[in-house]
Amino acid sequence: MKMRQNQNILLNKRIAVLGYGSQGRAQALNLKESGCDVVVGLRPGSPSFKKAKKDKILALPIAQALEGADLICFLLPDEFQASVYQKVVGPILKKGMTLVFAHGFSIFFKLIKPPSFVDIILIAPKMPGGQFRKAYISGEDVMACVAIHQNTSGKVQHLALAYSKAIGCSTVLKTTFQEETISNLFGEQTVKCGGVLDLMKASYETLVQAGVSSELAYLECVQGFKCMMDLLVENGFEGMQKLISPIASYGGQSRGPRLINKTVKDELKNILKEIQSGQFATEWLKKSQSVNARVIRKDLRN
Ligand SMILES: NC(=O)c1ccc[n+]([C@@H]2O[C@H](COP(=O)([O-])OP(=O)(O)OC[C@H]3O[C@@H](n4cnc5c(N)ncnc54)[C@H](OP(=O)(O)O)[C@@H]3O)[C@@H](O)[C@H]2O)c1
Repeated sequence: MKMRQNQNILLNKRIAVLGYGSQGRAQALNLKESGCDVVVGLRPGSPSFKKAKKDKILALPIAQALEGADLICFLLPDEFQASVYQKVVGPILKKGMTLVFAHGFSIFFKLIKPPSFVDIILIAPKMPGGQFRKAYISGEDVMACVAIHQNTSGKVQHLALAYSKAIGCSTVLKTTFQEETISNLFGEQTVKCGGVLDLMKASYETLVQAGVSSELAYLECVQGFKCMMDLLVENGFEGMQKLISPIASYGGQSRGPRLINKTVKDELKNILKEIQSGQFATEWLKKSQSVNARVIRKDLRN
C-alpha cells in the first residue's frame, strides 16, 4: 500500500542524528537542506567530526547533541545501537520525544526497550546512503518503509510522514518493525548481498575455469546484470522478457529454474527461520563484538 504525506510538522523540532556514516550523513544533510534543525551526535574522537565540518553541519559529542532534541535518530550500526542507548540515550528520555530508526533490528529483537512515554518510528529509505544522498540532490524521490511501534502522543503518524518527506522519501510503504526487520535481513542474505552475488561469482568462476578471459566473464556475469536489473525494475518480469532477445529469453527461462531446485528452496526457508527465530541476530551480535565482521568479498575486478 502506498500513501503520500502532505504536511510538515518538523519545522519546530530539533533532530539529533546519531552517526554520520552511510545513512547518517545522507539523512542529516537531506534534513538540513529541507529546512530542519539538525545536529549530528558523534562518539569522542570520531573522524566524522572533520567530515561534518566540511559539510557545514553541526556535530557534537552524543550527550551534547541530545540536549534539547525532540527526535533522536539511531543511524549507528545496528549492533552498537543498544550500548549507545543504554549509556547515553535512555537516561535522558522525556515524554514528547520520538526515537527514529532506519531498520527495525534493535526494537524487534528487544535489544532496546524504550519507556512507554516516547514515540517510536521506523523510516527506512530503500536505497544505500550514498545513492540516497545523490537522489535527494537531483530531486529524485526514493521510497521508504515506514512503521510505527509506539504512538504515545497520538500524533506520530504525521511526524513520521513529515520526516520521511524531509529526507527525500515522499512515497512510503507502510509496514511493521517485525515485517521490515525480517524482510530486509532476508533480502540482504538471499538476494542483494548474498545468494545472487554468490551465483554471479560461481558463474564467473565456471567461465574462467573453462578458459574464458576474466574480463569477459566479469562483463557477462557481473557487469551485464546491472542492465538487466534496470530492465526488470522498469518493466517487471514479463515486460523484461519482451525486451531481450528471443534466444536470451528462451535460454534464461529454460535453464534458470534448474538452478533453483528443492535444496535451494529448502535453504531459503532455513535462512528465513534463522532470521525469524533470532538465531541470526544472536550470531551477528556475537560475531560483531569479536572481529571486524564487515565481510570483504574478493573483488572479481582485481
Ligand atoms: N547503509 C544503508 O544505506 C542503510 C540503508 C537503510 C537502513 N540502514 C540502517 O541505518 C542504520 C545505520 O546504518 P549505516 O549503514 O548508515 O551505518 P554505518 O555507516 O556503519 O554508521 C557509521 C556511523 O556510526 C558511528 N558508530 C559506529 N560505532 C559506533 C559506536 N559504538 N558508538 C557511537 N557511534 C558509532 C560511526 O562513528 P565514526 O564516525 O566515529 O566512525 C559512524 O559515524 C542501521 O540501522 C542500518 O540498518 C542503512
